[in-house]
Amino acid sequence: MIRYILKMKWLMIVMIVLLLFTGLRHFMASSPKTTNNQTNHASSLQLKKAIPSHYPDLDLSIETKETDNYKLTIQSLTTHSKLINSEIDAWIRIQKQAFLDNVPDDSDKQAELDITLDIQQQSDYYYSFIMQTNITQDEENHRLHTKVFNVDLDQEKLLTLTDMLKSNDSGLQVIRELAQENLQDQTDISIDEEALQHTLSSPDTWNWSINQDGLTLIFGGEMSAVYRVDPVTVNIPLDKLYLHINEDIEHYINLSETQKTDMTAAIQEEKERILREKQEKEERERQKQAEKQKQQEALDDPNGKYVALTFDDGPSEDVTPRVLSILNEYDAKATFFMLGSQVDYFPDIAKQVADAGHEIGNHTWKHQDLTLLGSENIRKEVSETADRIHNATGVRPYLFRPPYGAYNELVINDSAQSGNAIILWSVDSLDWQSRNANAVYQEITQEITPGAIVLMHDIHPTTADALPKLLETLRDEGYQFVTVSQLLKMQNQNGAGPFYGHVK
Ligand code: NI
Repeated sequence: MIRYILKMKWLMIVMIVLLLFTGLRHFMASSPKTTNNQTNHASSLQLKKAIPSHYPDLDLSIETKETDNYKLTIQSLTTHSKLINSEIDAWIRIQKQAFLDNVPDDSDKQAELDITLDIQQQSDYYYSFIMQTNITQDEENHRLHTKVFNVDLDQEKLLTLTDMLKSNDSGLQVIRELAQENLQDQTDISIDEEALQHTLSSPDTWNWSINQDGLTLIFGGEMSAVYRVDPVTVNIPLDKLYLHINEDIEHYINLSETQKTDMTAAIQEEKERILREKQEKEERERQKQAEKQKQQEALDDPNGKYVALTFDDGPSEDVTPRVLSILNEYDAKATFFMLGSQVDYFPDIAKQVADAGHEIGNHTWKHQDLTLLGSENIRKEVSETADRIHNATGVRPYLFRPPYGAYNELVINDSAQSGNAIILWSVDSLDWQSRNANAVYQEITQEITPGAIVLMHDIHPTTADALPKLLETLRDEGYQFVTVSQLLKMQNQNGAGPFYGHVK
């Protein structure tokens, strides 16, 4: 009960506050409005009159209006195009409204809006109307805002930069870069870098005009990333844009004879440059193809000396990347028999191995002796690893090396069923035993024969240490380093295996 009373009390208080507040607001809103209307009515004087025009196609006018609070002076124009007129009128209306909305009622000083118009006739049909809004409210408050209308009076449309530039974005990019450089050279302005990037990335908002001197951008108003009292102008000479302006630009601007010649020459030069680049690229491609062809022929040589280097039990965090970079140095391809559990730890390294063009084989998930497992568990060890490798590298391995080289009928059956090939080795580096780079080198160089599969492990740093000298020596002896698949193909071996490579 007490709670209920308390609640009611709060409700009453809230209602009283609300009532007071609405009443007050009503009072505040209504009183200045009345005075405003009165003053406007009392002293308003509005005039729109035509002024002489140098341009037969353009009617110019000036509109003035003065009250106690403000003064408007608006230069404007009309063309024979309704569309163009309505665009200009709409813009002026917005400027006017924005100004009026902000005129203070109680200031001693009259606020002023002055819209000026500068007309540039660039060619028979193309005009730029540069309109500038100048607002003075207090002495301090002096805001300039620019808007450029580029119009084609022949086609009765507003022009955009895309009417002047070729349709790709490279012209805009050049303009952006040159504008930025130019602005950075102007010392009497301050630039909001972030806003400038935004402005430069939206060409639709650019205030621009173009004539035979070049492209002019005016920053100010919507291009408000650049600050100074007056609008900031950036000029980009036309010769910087020869490659990017439309070939029919002469419809809009009058090029001099020299400019025409230079532009044609620049375009020709660019065409030749592109052609030359294309030819060079084709030539490089041809050479690469020839090189590949040569390598392929070398691989097909029945008397060639091939060896398949294999690395087991990885990928590992430190050793595998080292092995990769050494192999890369010697342009050698190898085969990595990976453990699923290791790929699970280092999927990115597994991907690097595949991306470098090496072959990846399956070495089971956790390196168990498969001869101690039933067929279901064998299947699991092999297939889960294949899935994980596929997932990490995008490649599904079909080469399979049982841990310890231990296999039985069940392992062979599993390989036959799943389309895997059991790969053993003919040369054991014994790197797991010696853990000594020199011993690894000695072991392999003594045992190696053409067609050998060499067993190493990319988990021992000493194995990576042995590689540079080993690869150097074997290469000098004429060996080529191929993947196990390439070797099997050359030896015409296929099926479940097991395969050892050529044993001595
Ligand atoms: Ni192993």
